[in-house]
Amino acid sequence: MGNRLHLSVLMVLVTLLLSIFHSEQLQSSPSQTLLRIQRLLNFPAVLSSWNNNTDFCSTDSTSSLTVVCYEGTITQLHIVGETRALLLPRNFSIDSFVTTLVRLPSLKVLTLVSLGLWGPLPGKIVHLSSLEIVNVSSNFLYGSIPPQLSLLSHLQTLILDDNMFSGHLPEWLDSFPALTVLSLRNNLLNGSLPDSLSSLKNIRILSLSNNHFYGPVPDLHHLTNLQVLELDDNAFGPRFPMLGDKLVTLVLRNNKFRSSIPDEVSSYYQLEALDISANTLVGPFQLALLSLPSITYLNISGNKLTGMLLENLSCNPGLEVVDLSSNLLTGSLPKCLVSNSNDRTILYARNCLEETIQNQHELPFCHTEAIAVGIVPEGKKHKQVSKAVLSLGIVCGTFGGVAIVALLFFIVRRVYAKSKIKKPPTKLISENAASGYTSKLISDARYISQKMKFGMVGLPPYRVFSLEEIVAATNNFDTATFMGEGSEGKMHRGQLKNGLLVAIRSVKMAKSYSKEDFMHNIDLISKYRHRHLVSVLGHCFECYLDDSSVSGIFIVFEYVPNGTLKSWISDGHYRKSLTWMQRIEAAIGVAKGIEFLHTGIVTGVYSNNLKITDVLLDQNFVAKISNYDLPLLSNMRKVEQVNPSSGSRSPSTNKSVKHDEGKSDVYDFGVILLELILGRTIKSRNVDTLKDLLQASITADGEARRSIIDPAVRKACLDQSLKTMMEICVRCLIKEPEERPSIEDVLWNLQFAAQVQDAWRGDSQSSSSDGSPISPLASGRMTFH
Ligand SMILES: *[C@@H]1O[C@H](CO)[C@@H](O)[C@H](O)[C@H]1NC(C)=O
Ligand SMILES: *[C@@H]1O[C@H](CO)[C@@H](O)[C@H](O)[C@H]1NC(C)=O
Ligand SMILES: *[C@@H]1O[C@H](CO)[C@@H](O)[C@H](O)[C@H]1NC(C)=O
Ligand SMILES: *[C@@H]1O[C@H](CO)[C@@H](O)[C@H](O)[C@H]1NC(C)=O
Ligand SMILES: *[C@@H]1O[C@H](CO)[C@@H](O)[C@H](O)[C@H]1NC(C)=O
Ligand SMILES: *[C@@H]1O[C@H](CO)[C@@H](O)[C@H](O)[C@H]1NC(C)=O
Repeated sequence: MGNRLHLSVLMVLVTLLLSIFHSEQLQSSPSQTLLRIQRLLNFPAVLSSWNNNTDFCSTDSTSSLTVVCYEGTITQLHIVGETRALLLPRNFSIDSFVTTLVRLPSLKVLTLVSLGLWGPLPGKIVHLSSLEIVNVSSNFLYGSIPPQLSLLSHLQTLILDDNMFSGHLPEWLDSFPALTVLSLRNNLLNGSLPDSLSSLKNIRILSLSNNHFYGPVPDLHHLTNLQVLELDDNAFGPRFPMLGDKLVTLVLRNNKFRSSIPDEVSSYYQLEALDISANTLVGPFQLALLSLPSITYLNISGNKLTGMLLENLSCNPGLEVVDLSSNLLTGSLPKCLVSNSNDRTILYARNCLEETIQNQHELPFCHTEAIAVGIVPEGKKHKQVSKAVLSLGIVCGTFGGVAIVALLFFIVRRVYAKSKIKKPPTKLISENAASGYTSKLISDARYISQKMKFGMVGLPPYRVFSLEEIVAATNNFDTATFMGEGSEGKMHRGQLKNGLLVAIRSVKMAKSYSKEDFMHNIDLISKYRHRHLVSVLGHCFECYLDDSSVSGIFIVFEYVPNGTLKSWISDGHYRKSLTWMQRIEAAIGVAKGIEFLHTGIVTGVYSNNLKITDVLLDQNFVAKISNYDLPLLSNMRKVEQVNPSSGSRSPSTNKSVKHDEGKSDVYDFGVILLELILGRTIKSRNVDTLKDLLQASITADGEARRSIIDPAVRKACLDQSLKTMMEICVRCLIKEPEERPSIEDVLWNLQFAAQVQDAWRGDSQSSSSDGSPISPLASGRMTFH
């Protein structure tokens, strides 16, 4: 009995102790998790106040940092980094990050904005099963939206804006019965919208702006809570969406809507902002829109809306912006729009209005166009119509009127649409014309970029050439074959018997050496073979006849036909310039070449003193480094100085010298990058100024950034890609060598820039081909390694 009592007391004690221990653990572990998060985020400035002694649950919250606890567990975490945060370094792992994050299982509100997070969002985030509000905007998250998210049944707000998510909008959206805000602006999502969207009964804000969506918008008129719908900058269409009448903001700008505006729109009594600009909407413009009770912003510009405005129309006095420009409106501007125009923007150019100060077409233009889109304007149909239209009208009248016009119109449109699909869109034509490349070439270039990792490709094996071959190849060093002279000897162009073009460097020896003296160096030289080096194909000794000691060496290089990289940027003048993507590819090539020089050969080659004129392009625009520091003469000197038997320099000093010298290549690379971005060659004394300019523009807006770069690539480069290139360029040019990034780091950032640009171009090219489904996004994304 006593024993039993003992035992149960003991049990109670143990349980008590355990529970105390357990709760203590719970209390300390969230702090550790937060500190680990701080470390994984690479100690961002916003978290600088966090340390081992921070009591997280009682810190003051700021707009960029808030931790909210409830009964000792963390329920809200809100971290907003600096705007335009840089990508976290290569060693960041989104997977470890989320693994750490899910140790805060009570999180309901999670904001991780502008922290440089990158990678595909791991599905295990659903272990945070209490999540209600998630905002991970302005990071570099990519890949598809993970299907596991559908398990977050409490989710009310999901904001993934300004990332690089791709793929389709998931079908399982209806598994979020509580969802009120879904915002996916500025991503790379594509496909058409799932019908499940129409069952999001509670949705209040739906923003899909600036993606690559296309096709019809599902029927949303049952969504009675929907207040904000933003679909701009996609390829939705052709029918105007069916919507509930509680809308406050409706943005359909820049899509492919081609129908008329349904009458219901004039009954959206809460509507404050309506932007349907830059579509091809036809039919009458409902004048009632001007007098909706709440309307303040109305933009219908860039459509084919018809109708006659009257001076005595009434409009909402609260209207701040009205843009009617580029439509087919007639009549005269309503008085209510003309007056008190100081704090109002009223635009109406390029219609057919009477007596206005803004540019107008002649009246017949609007009538002709209106007929051409198959809608006949009300009233006075025949009076002012031009002859051609009149006769067309008569023909049509004979054959039964509008139906035929519509038929004709559809035939014409189909033919037009077809021809549009066949031809690349005009924007692309002009870009291609400017750079002179076919898309085939670009896709080849992309293909090549996939293959870069294989190093050398398609080089004949290294071999020893005979003097006869060298003489024959250069036509006995004919002056016509002379290419130039560098510190290491003359260069001649040549052609081998098998047709292969080569470049031959002749190095004369001041002293005579035996062949054996060279064997070590030749062995090294034979390893200078890489896709991004002007590679060595072989050598040939020239010997004195009497004692057969070496009087000279010919080094046979591959011939790279497309000239220097310098000649392909804007101030190369006499050539077309490279596209933005080709510039990134070229930069990646150079960086890979440098990486190979540093690490690919037993004794790394550092301090190559590279210039943009040392980078050559081959027939496929693969960049190759020439004039790298070939260890021929330098090592010969070393052979003289350091006898193999006597000791060499101590390995440690050797290493630190190498380290620094590697960073001087990084600096030189930075200059080349600067030249690629700005499109001109740069004197070394100007590098610092231009670096500062670049630095300043990184934190400015996209417009400012674009304004300083090579005009030839201004249009076609994606801002994120440009920014990444600028950032890495600035870092390469840092004064202190040890603070410059490693060449691997450089390479990684360049590949990131390429991936961003590639994903964007893949989609934007096809989405501009008039409503045809978007073709698969540029396939094989580059892998980070
Ligand atoms: C916090 O504590 C850990 C050990 O618990 C220690 O390694 C670390 O240096 C400490 N950090 C700070 C900022 O004091
Ligand atoms: C990642 O690398 C940076 C330097 O680039 C280093 O400061 C940091 O400690 C590393 N972070 C982790 C989590 O390894
Ligand atoms: C997401 O959070 C950021 C930072 O607090 C905020 O600026 C942004 O408006 C939020 N996004 C949405 C759609 O509310
Ligand atoms: C109306 O929309 C067009 C096209 O989207 C845009 O260019 C224009 O600036 C807008 N007008 C106003 C006043 O915002
Ligand atoms: C506006 O003026 C037109 C004639 O110019 C007239 O037919 C119409 O009844 C007027 N409307 C109102 C509301 O006064
Ligand atoms: C959408 O994008 C994904 C990758 O981002 C691609 O694989 C897919 O083919 C695209 N779908 C369509 C219909 O364009």
